Amino acid sequence: MSKDEHKDEVQEEEIPETDEAPEEISQQEQQREYFKARYTEITDLPGVGSATAVSLAEAGYRTTPSLATATIRELTEKGIGEDTAKKVIAEARKAISLGFISAQDLIKIRSNRKLLTTGCANFDQLLNGGLETESITEFYGENGSGKTQICHQLCVTVQLPEEKGGLNGNALYLDTEGTFHPERILQMAETFGLEPGPTLENIVYAEAFTSEHQIALLEAADDMIQEHKIRLIIVDSAIAQFRSEYSGREFLATRQQKLNAHLNKLLRLCRAFNAAGVITNQVVDRPDSYGQNFPSPTGGHIVGHTVHTRVFIRKGRANLRIAKLTKSPSLPEGETPFRITETGILHEENL
Ligand SMILES: Nc1ncnc2c1ncn2[C@@H]1O[C@H](COP(=O)(O)OP(=O)(O)OP(=O)(O)O)[C@@H](O)[C@H]1O
Ligand SMILES: [Mg+2]
Repeated sequence: MSKDEHKDEVQEEEIPETDEAPEEISQQEQQREYFKARYTEITDLPGVGSATAVSLAEAGYRTTPSLATATIRELTEKGIGEDTAKKVIAEARKAISLGFISAQDLIKIRSNRKLLTTGCANFDQLLNGGLETESITEFYGENGSGKTQICHQLCVTVQLPEEKGGLNGNALYLDTEGTFHPERILQMAETFGLEPGPTLENIVYAEAFTSEHQIALLEAADDMIQEHKIRLIIVDSAIAQFRSEYSGREFLATRQQKLNAHLNKLLRLCRAFNAAGVITNQVVDRPDSYGQNFPSPTGGHIVGHTVHTRVFIRKGRANLRIAKLTKSPSLPEGETPFRITETGILHEENL
């Protein structure tokens, strides 16, 4: 185990107590409640008056789903009293039925999860249909391997109707390297038969200049995600700013703690809004047990624990790339070729 791994810290989440027994409701009612709750104003929650709502909004919590997935510590750190924090989080959780449920009910709730097509048949096959919502998929690889190109294509495919593998929703692109190119979106929109203007309109973009800025943008994103019907949240690249700003060993613990909170926020937003989360990550060479160097994603165990699916992208000859599934909660490892072309990320047979 490396020193990095020893230093990774995981923040414990405090769970407020509730003495109310969960009510028995049918699947249909449960699903109705599930969706209705997503559109409940936080001021509709018992105990949230206008003054509390203002404090919560200033702290970045403007919707019930994001409040339900907040921690007490996050709210108290932003100046909200502990009793109020406990009460409002508990009420928000009740409103969207976050609590103990049976595994049978879990299957029903999980059926709300959707798959987002990559727009490339064999890439989708590798992922058993596409990227899962309410979870984070990481693409990692060396410079120019195609991570940003994949992110661009996902911004387009998320807008496709469900019958074409999309989520009929919009994308949020958090760019930390200034490499988002709307012109590329136009090329890809044409490939997928989408109108260019509206396709660009449906991508909400922000460039983050520092890690603090990156954190702040995501923390303030919840009502915008709801308002713009965002179903895909991309952070490209998620770790780079943290690595360059906290480069000394003495800053490692702080870096990992901030990164952990940031990735957790991303995951909670994805869960709250049934969105697919995507991060990109760079690689560093690490020796394996035989002393041979191999490219490994940056960010240590914090990243490894938070992302559910990891895909390594490596370069082949010319525009050929190989995607390798290296971590998945339910799929075997595997790999598949694809190509980066003028028209997008394509399966060889599409060419
Ligand atoms: N319009 C295009 N047509 C064909 N290939 C393109 C086009 N635009 C970019 N590419 C190819 O995409 C590759 C760059 O991929 P991308 O920017 O996604 O890499 P990356 O993995 O994000 O790298 P980094 O780590 O530097 O961010 C280059 O090989 C480039 O040739
Ligand atoms: Mg890139």
